[in-house]
Amino acid sequence: MDRKEFLRTSGILSLSSMAVIAAFIESCKKTESSAPQAPTVNFNLDLTASANSSLNSVGGYVYNSGVIVACIATNSYVALSQACTHQGCTVAYASGSFNCPCHGGRYDTNGNVTAGPPPSPLKKYTVTHNGNNLNIAG
Ligand code: FES
Repeated sequence: MDRKEFLRTSGILSLSSMAVIAAFIESCKKTESSAPQAPTVNFNLDLTASANSSLNSVGGYVYNSGVIVACIATNSYVALSQACTHQGCTVAYASGSFNCPCHGGRYDTNGNVTAGPPPSPLKKYTVTHNGNNLNIAG
């Protein structure tokens, strides 16, 4: 292979490599934005209802209207959007953390990312506890 042929061949390879890299980056951008928008909600949960009974135990949680509501301590509740901000998988609560089963994303009780690929925090909702009722709004 002479010098001209080498330069022409390596130039073609470089251009095709750049096209592959650009296509890869574009596909990554599309997956990063696939998480659904966090909903705007205003609903009540009756703590005496059997559907919400897990909220009477520390560590228990329920899903409602796109929101995960967890009991993080006695009479202390947190409500976050349930869809992981990476690709939209549903998070679950365990051991003081909201965890995504898909790629290891983790969030603290304020919704802030503590591990994994999520690009942004979970939306946090206001929880008002009044007797046997929780109001979740935001
Ligand atoms: S969807 Fe990828 S970490 Fe949650």
